[in-house]
Amino acid sequence: MAWPAIIRYAIALLVLLPPPPCAAVDRLVPGNPLSPGATIVSDGGSFALGFFSPANSTPAKLYIGIWYNDIPQLTVVWVANRETPVTSSSASLSLTNASDLVLSDAGGRVAWTTNVAGAAPAPAAGGAAAAVLLNTGNLVIRSPDGTTLWQSFDHPADTFLPGMKIRIRYVTRAGERLVSWKGPADPSPGPFSFGADPDTFLQVFVWNGTRPIWRSGPWTGYMVSTQTTAPYLTNTSVIVYLAVVNTEEEIYITFSLSDGAAHTRYVLTDAGDYQLQTWNGSSSAWILLSWTRGECMSYGYCGLNGYCDITEFPSTCKCLNGFEPTSLEDWRGGRFSQGCRRKEALRCGDGFLAFPGIQSPDKFVLVRNRDLHECEAECTKNCSCVAYAYANLSTSRTKGDLTRCLVWTGDLTDTTRTGVGDASDTLYLRVAGTMRAKRSHALKTVLPAVLISGLLILAAISLAWFKFKGRVNYGAKHKKLTLDDMSASDELGEGNHAQDFEFLSVRFEDIVAATSNFSEACKIGQGGFGKVYKAMLGCREVAIKRLSKDSDQGTKEFKNEVVLIAKLQHRNLVRLLGCSVEADEKILIYEYLANGSLDATLFDNSRKMLLDWPMRLNIIKGVARGLLYLHQDSRLTIIHRDLKAANVLLDAEMRPKIADFGMARIFNDSQENANTRCVVGTYGYMAPEYAMEGVFSIKSDVYSFGVLLLEVVTGIRRSSSGGIMGFPNLIVYAWNMWKEGKARDLADPYIMDTCSLDEVLLCSHVALLCVQENPDDRPLMSSVVLTLENGSTRLPAPNNPGHYGQTSSDVEQTRDRTENSMNSLTLTTIEGR
Ligand SMILES: *[C@@H]1O[C@H](CO)[C@@H](O)[C@H](O)[C@H]1NC(C)=O
Ligand SMILES: *[C@@H]1O[C@H](CO)[C@@H](O)[C@H](O)[C@H]1NC(C)=O
Ligand SMILES: *[C@@H]1O[C@H](CO)[C@@H](O)[C@H](O)[C@H]1NC(C)=O
Ligand SMILES: *[C@@H]1O[C@H](CO)[C@@H](O)[C@H](O)[C@H]1NC(C)=O
Ligand SMILES: *[C@@H]1O[C@H](CO)[C@@H](O)[C@H](O)[C@H]1NC(C)=O
Ligand SMILES: *[C@@H]1O[C@H](CO)[C@@H](O)[C@H](O)[C@H]1NC(C)=O
Repeated sequence: MAWPAIIRYAIALLVLLPPPPCAAVDRLVPGNPLSPGATIVSDGGSFALGFFSPANSTPAKLYIGIWYNDIPQLTVVWVANRETPVTSSSASLSLTNASDLVLSDAGGRVAWTTNVAGAAPAPAAGGAAAAVLLNTGNLVIRSPDGTTLWQSFDHPADTFLPGMKIRIRYVTRAGERLVSWKGPADPSPGPFSFGADPDTFLQVFVWNGTRPIWRSGPWTGYMVSTQTTAPYLTNTSVIVYLAVVNTEEEIYITFSLSDGAAHTRYVLTDAGDYQLQTWNGSSSAWILLSWTRGECMSYGYCGLNGYCDITEFPSTCKCLNGFEPTSLEDWRGGRFSQGCRRKEALRCGDGFLAFPGIQSPDKFVLVRNRDLHECEAECTKNCSCVAYAYANLSTSRTKGDLTRCLVWTGDLTDTTRTGVGDASDTLYLRVAGTMRAKRSHALKTVLPAVLISGLLILAAISLAWFKFKGRVNYGAKHKKLTLDDMSASDELGEGNHAQDFEFLSVRFEDIVAATSNFSEACKIGQGGFGKVYKAMLGCREVAIKRLSKDSDQGTKEFKNEVVLIAKLQHRNLVRLLGCSVEADEKILIYEYLANGSLDATLFDNSRKMLLDWPMRLNIIKGVARGLLYLHQDSRLTIIHRDLKAANVLLDAEMRPKIADFGMARIFNDSQENANTRCVVGTYGYMAPEYAMEGVFSIKSDVYSFGVLLLEVVTGIRRSSSGGIMGFPNLIVYAWNMWKEGKARDLADPYIMDTCSLDEVLLCSHVALLCVQENPDDRPLMSSVVLTLENGSTRLPAPNNPGHYGQTSSDVEQTRDRTENSMNSLTLTTIEGR
């Protein structure tokens, strides 16, 4: 994080309201509100709190902010009401008797509040709470007995001040983030955020929406110091502590300054640049000490196996040792995204090459409790391990394991060469080496023999040809999926195999090994069909579903059915990669998707903002296309029968893929459009005719799609306990809003900023058409896809929706219509795999 340079930085877009009329105090107490024009100033004079207004807003939008009090240029470090500016000059900020800070409009409308009253007990009678602005820039609400009820440092805006902590919680993996302003004069939340990596806790990221655009690289010790050593810079040293273990539940990032350094801060700019700035009093300007954007520093800019060399000026993309550009032409033209490929395929015996001064690649696996030599051994013994890096962690600020052994399999993402320093690693990279010499030696001894006779030449040529072909094939396969212990099944009907179809049959013992004997630690979900585990098979992350043992299908039929399903390939379907069958164990192997199931994001208040409207629309369209493929475009007509938010998984790019299709076939329950013995599915998503009469058709899936579509638009679960706005469920609610012409109000408040009203209306309309009571009225998926892609042609008005009354508690359950429960498929949520 240290790229010292000097760049002037100026913000001149904000105006301060008229100066305070009277001597400043450092606190707000009940009964003494703060009005526009007045400020409170911290004891020590460093920071002020008051109303400010972006220069170009008419009528003037007023925000409550904290800024540096002792520098002439208004530099706001925190904003309270980012999304809810007030406009009236009779607005006021007051501390209530219940210890809440409340910003109210002229009419008394509450624009913003700290909302602690509900969470904390009311202050004891006799004393009054106070909101005190500390000289660190932290606004703290203190109860009369001195406890902190709320502090602005826990609610960061775009600025990270010394002493502030950005926390992340182990269990929920939720954490605080800096969120950029939308523009230089617009404090509302922009697309960029900064925070710790929720997966590893070992590095920090800057994200654009959900896409990483910069990362710090894994932590190499407890501190990263940015010494601004250049003589023309201020005498500031910034100590950044990454991942300080706070309690067993959370860790945090923080930083502090060397003595005497003042006015130094990190800020996430509205362009997504995470900058360290310091104030130069003589020139009255902010100076940039480090930054994250520019040249090849963007996340993954140099492609897989490439690295950004920032020790050179200007920084450039290069290929890691042993690799060459995938496309030389692109590389020369300055297009690096295709990255680099190995010059020579790895053999298991290949050794490692040390690369010092590297900011380690992303997507590492942390192996606990290994010293340097054990770390090397860990990587050496595992043929799919391509690199490792080791660091000792500090003793003083961490608990427990002080080792940090990182290993990588597969391609290396987002490597940077930073030069040797505090924050750099030595990356030990496995490179094909010794093998090469041996092979050329072998070739030399073969050649004279070739010259001896024409026959031998022919033989040698054909031999070489076969060998070459063999190697190329091996190489290609190796690249696609290095599954050392896997064999493409030959018993599964060779004749059916399409050229590009690769189906894996894996030994059960390998599955046991990969999942550590189905350990709870590997488990990522559970559904009626069985438990789901995450595992590595060769170099590939996969989701392994262990089917419950009550399917009475024979092994052969099962395999045939699985192969058939595996051939259904579409970018919006989760890929079924293979299976494993042994005795009564039936295992399905799926591709693993990083972002889990849609419901885990859509209905989680701390995550749902990750899904803006364009993303939601893409998810809807993707699911529609996937379903259309199942219904119509694949060789089989597959009715999903359990489409729901939990069965839509999101990949790293938030692209949707439908999971669990074909389960009915796999469970040998493949009558179609008929009465079925067992109703599989999830209440609430099931079409009424299916839930009540067991009749299913592709139109029952259309119904489920409609329900899903309403959920995506509203961000509300189909059945929220206690009903929705007085209606028993989402469908009835949506139908009523539609009838009253208020369909626009269906949109989730979280997408208000990003959605187009037309699209929301169109989606609601399509959804209501899909959930109509009469299956014949519901559209086919083909016309749904067409409508979603091309906007509305003239759509018919929807008729009454079909739904069936039930209490909210029985919603996520299935009903088994027969007592005979061959497939007692209680489908609960299957978490993301
Ligand atoms: C707050 O407390 C003061 C003093 O106890 C009292 O005079 C005032 O009416 C209270 N305000 C409200 C809104 O309850
Ligand atoms: C952020 O994402 C948006 C939309 O995906 C894109 O247009 C923009 O260029 C991105 N900005 C940066 C700095 O990555
Ligand atoms: C601060 O500003 C002065 C006056 O413009 C300039 O001479 C000096 O180099 C600046 N210091 C830094 C560290 O930029
Ligand atoms: C810079 O810091 C060092 C050590 O803290 C101190 O001795 C020195 O006086 C400082 N220099 C200036 C110009 O402030
Ligand atoms: C880690 O600590 C051990 C023991 O203190 C030391 O021998 C070793 O060199 C250190 N390794 C690294 C990579 O700093
Ligand atoms: C090889 O390494 C990967 C990644 O760390 C791991 O998932 C896999 O289980 C290892 N294989 C063996 C045989 O240790």
